[in-house]
Amino acid sequence: MKALILSGGKGTRLRPLTYTGAKQLVPVANKPILWYGIEAIVAAGITEIGIIISPETGEEIKIKTGDGEQFGANITYILQEQPLGLAHAVKTAQPFLAHSPFVMYLGDNLIEDDLNPFLDSFKSQNLNALILLRKVSNPSAFGVAKVDEKGKVLQLIEKPKDPPSNLALVGIYFFSPAIHAAIAAIKPSARGELEITDAIQELIHQQKTVEALQLIGWWLDTGKKDDLLEANRIILDTCLTIGIHGDVDSQSAAIGRVQIGKGTKIINSTIRGPVIIGENCHIENCFIGPYSSIADRATLIDADIEHSVILQSAKVIGIQQRIVDSVVGQRARLELAPQRPKALRFMIGDDSHIELV
Ligand code: DAU
Repeated sequence: MKALILSGGKGTRLRPLTYTGAKQLVPVANKPILWYGIEAIVAAGITEIGIIISPETGEEIKIKTGDGEQFGANITYILQEQPLGLAHAVKTAQPFLAHSPFVMYLGDNLIEDDLNPFLDSFKSQNLNALILLRKVSNPSAFGVAKVDEKGKVLQLIEKPKDPPSNLALVGIYFFSPAIHAAIAAIKPSARGELEITDAIQELIHQQKTVEALQLIGWWLDTGKKDDLLEANRIILDTCLTIGIHGDVDSQSAAIGRVQIGKGTKIINSTIRGPVIIGENCHIENCFIGPYSSIADRATLIDADIEHSVILQSAKVIGIQQRIVDSVVGQRARLELAPQRPKALRFMIGDDSHIELV
């Protein structure tokens, strides 16, 4: 059994964060989303992992993630020249996958459930495809399954305007090598992509065994800002290990579940968990409220934040109002003059969102 993680694509929905970096490397609780997938795959006993990368962001993914040693896996990077669809990514990976069955994992998906029961079910029933479904309130944003009363998959449709059910396809799929012939039989969709949904539909058409199981735990497709904040909240709630490795001065308090990295200085500040602060940060005269993740080398002075994600080397200085539900990108600076400002001066990248509420 092998694994194929899809970490190519364009990542337009997380712009502007993903202009300079891969969306799969955007951190959730200070760890790249992609790494959660790698860890889940290794925990299911699969160590031969192929990662699809794009020419734009592939190098960054390779440098950060490495050859897999840190995960106990063997990672092969596979370049997909253009994001021509999930099924196209599988086609590109065919030499790596050879005749092996595999789990395909979308690099921007996060699930709570353990993969083992699904893998067992796939293997024990000798299936050609096992898909995972979850009820959602906005099925039109996903691939959607029509199933009969016994849970048998009748039809799959990619992002339907008029969804036949509220059961969305989760971005984790188990395939036998039969998927390759199905991919060879399909044509690009209206949006010009070779859709994996169409390939699975083709398997159904060929009377191959396709089963679906429903996810029980949470599932997050971290494509948008609010999804990212929600993923951050859930991970901080469920997986945060407490540990103060930095320097918290006597004027400061770290309350509740808090993790502070090496080399970080906390001066005259209150940190109310769950909160994670990375290494070599400078936090002074701040209130850092629940569900905040602050990445390495960030500087926060005279600031009050809550339910927000601050990426590496960002600076937030002198903001009197509480910053909530916000994502501040790498190296971004958010500063206010010490006296009440008479004017606001901005240098804001394309697709940025600023709300003065
Ligand atoms: O998240 C679940 C959904 O993922 C499913 O419900 C849909 O059926 C499925 O098509 C997919 O939809 P998305 O529109 O969310 O896919 P997206 O374009 O965001 O790509 C998902 C991942 O695959 C992402 O990490 C980028 C990567 N990718 C995407 C394309 C199109 C590639 O590596 N190569 C590609 O060609």
